[in-house]
Amino acid sequence: MSGHAHYREAHPLVFVITHYINLICMIMLAFSGFYIHFPFFNGFMGVARGMHFVAMYVIIINLTFRIIAAFFVKTATQLGSRAVDTDIKNWLPQEENKHQFLETVKYYLFLRKEGVISAKYGSLQKIAYLATIPLTYLQAYTGFAIYGPTMNMGFFSGGLEMVGGPMNMRIIHYFMMWVFIVFTMIHAYLANIYNLNPSKIIFLWKETDH
Ligand code: HEM
Ligand code: HEM
Repeated sequence: MSGHAHYREAHPLVFVITHYINLICMIMLAFSGFYIHFPFFNGFMGVARGMHFVAMYVIIINLTFRIIAAFFVKTATQLGSRAVDTDIKNWLPQEENKHQFLETVKYYLFLRKEGVISAKYGSLQKIAYLATIPLTYLQAYTGFAIYGPTMNMGFFSGGLEMVGGPMNMRIIHYFMMWVFIVFTMIHAYLANIYNLNPSKIIFLWKETDH
């Protein structure tokens, strides 16, 4: 698996755009969030909060759109093939992923030399990418629970009571920022572990043949 084609069928333009929007929102939210937590220079609090309050809606709408689109947009679902099928197949276990979870872990731990041949996404990729969905919604939930205009709604005040008040919820929201930062670092590294071709397709929509 040292290399395989990266072609547009595997990443249709609409998903290149949703990935960009997600990434830009994440950068804005992490930067403004970090500033709200620890204002490391003066006079930016109004802008930081405004940035956070805009990006938080955009990222949720984008994620929700991405999920719905998975049921309609056709993408390649097999490595090395331009044949397309509904994108949701990429997010669920496929025949080619069977019995590969442990093998993939071994490979990453240098306990196995040969890469694992799988569907378009390997088992670990599926788990990691799927996990970003509940994590992002959970971040939205903890965020709205510490947001003045929404914190008194039953749906959020219930959660506030459960964790013991807004200060605890704020700490959870802050901690989850680090979860996203660590996820993104590992993801950006592993997605490009052989060469930068995966990034050429996801950011520049440029095809490469290995
Ligand atoms: C997804 C929807 C999100 C919502 C609804 C949301 C909402 C909020 C709200 C209301 C605040 C308090 C701001 C204030 O009152 O001045 C806040 C703070 C913060 N947010 Fe978010 N946020 C979201 C996503 C994110 C993401 C993705 C990150 C990081 C990757 C993040 C990191 C932070 C941090 C670090 C703080 C400061 C917490 C503290 O004071 O310790 N937020 N957020
Ligand atoms: C420096 C930042 C990033 C880089 C370099 C990067 C790179 C990539 C690449 C190369 C792919 C294609 C993977 C493949 O086909 O094997 C991809 C897909 C993906 N990335 Fe990222 N990414 C970044 C940030 C993020 C962030 C912040 C998230 C979410 C929190 C994210 C979530 C995903 C997901 C869910 C996919 C699956 C593709 C799809 O939605 O259609 N990425 N990324």
